[in-house]
This record gives sequence, structure tokens and C-alpha cells, in this order.
Amino acid sequence: MTPPSDDGKTMSEPVGQWGQRGFVLWLTGLSGSGKTTLAKLFEQELRAQGIRIERLDGDVVRQSLTADLGFSKEDRDKNIQRVTFVAKLLSRNDVGVVASFISPYRTTRDWVRSEVTNFIEVFVECSLEECIRRDVKGLYAKALAGEIPEFTGVSDPYEAPVNAEITVNTAEESIEESFAKIMGYLREMGYVPVPEVIG
Ligand code: ADX
Repeated sequence: MTPPSDDGKTMSEPVGQWGQRGFVLWLTGLSGSGKTTLAKLFEQELRAQGIRIERLDGDVVRQSLTADLGFSKEDRDKNIQRVTFVAKLLSRNDVGVVASFISPYRTTRDWVRSEVTNFIEVFVECSLEECIRRDVKGLYAKALAGEIPEFTGVSDPYEAPVNAEITVNTAEESIEESFAKIMGYLREMGYVPVPEVIG
């Protein structure tokens, strides 16, 4: 048994040949860039592999844990702070977290990195033009018409990561390619077991 370190981040040694380690796969990017689609795929695939996983998503969390918050910088930071609190508890107890939030501010994301166990920043890149073209929720049309203030990419900033572990571009790659890129990293880092090649 390894006692918790002072910062409470390391709780246990891996058990057996492959023991699950906690991590936080943090997907950041514009609204409509494909964060939730990728997060759901990972939730599904990792669960199927028997990996304990929790998915935290902006649209869902904002209906419960952070329902009182809006989209000012202060409120976005509070949103991320509360989510980080949850992600920290899970990741330090060897649960994998898949988090999808616009999280537009670089310093806030760096703060998350410093708080949780095994932070993996994934920049889900997609041009604003493509997000506007997709406009899955119809929010860009409203934002462009001036009906939604402080809308990320339109009337509010998005600070692209400069030190992300992984960058995927959903405008240029297929979802399968983006998925494979992230999965490759998780396997390489030992967060997900590498499938045995039989033969
Ligand atoms: S964050 O900036 O605080 O990280 P979060 O990921 O939780 O944002 O929520 C983003 C989602 O809220 C968007 O995908 C969109 O559906 C919705 N939304 C509503 N208003 C805004 C806005 N002003 N800016 C961005 N997203 C908004």
C-alpha cells in the first residue's frame, strides 16, 4: 500500500499485470467542434474494455452542478472549478474521466492540469467557419444575429492550447482518425491496455 502523497494525487499502485490508473482526458474546443461526440465514443469504448469511467460534459453539468452559472469569464471559471473538483476526486481514485468543456481560457486549463491526476489536454480543433456551417444546436445563427451575448468564437474569446498532449482536427480528419489518435496516446501512456496480438 502506498499512502496518499501530500497533494492527495497518488493513492494506489497498479494491481496485477495491468492496473487502472486515474486520468482526466480533457477535451477543449469551440462549441460544435465534436468534443461531446468524441467523449461519448471514449466512454462507450473504455467501458466496453472494463475501464471505470465517468463522463463530464458542459451541456449536462450546466443543467445540474453549475445550473446557476452563465458565460461571463467569472462564471466559466467557476464552472470549470467545480467540475475540476469532481474530476480530481475521481482521478485520484483511479477512475478515468472524460471531460468535454469549451474551457476557453488557457490559464484556467493550466490550473486544471495542476489540480488533477494525469491531465491529458486534447485540443479538438475545428475552424469557426466549419462550426458555424454545422451549427448543430442552432446557437451560432442566434449568436451571429446578436441574440446570444458572449458566445465563444463569435463575441467571446477562445484561447487555443499551446501545450496540448494531443490535437485532433475534426474538420480535416474523420471521427475515426481523431478517435484513433487519442486512443493511441492512451495506450502508449498505459492508461488503456494495449490489445494482445494473438498469433
Ligand atoms: S465553458 O466555457 O464554461 O467551458 P461549457 O462547455 O460548460 O462552456 O458549455 C458550453 C455549451 O453551452 C455550448 O456547447 C452551448 O451549447 C452552450 N452555450 C450557451 N451559451 C453559450 C455561450 N455564450 N458561449 C458558449 N457556449 C454557450
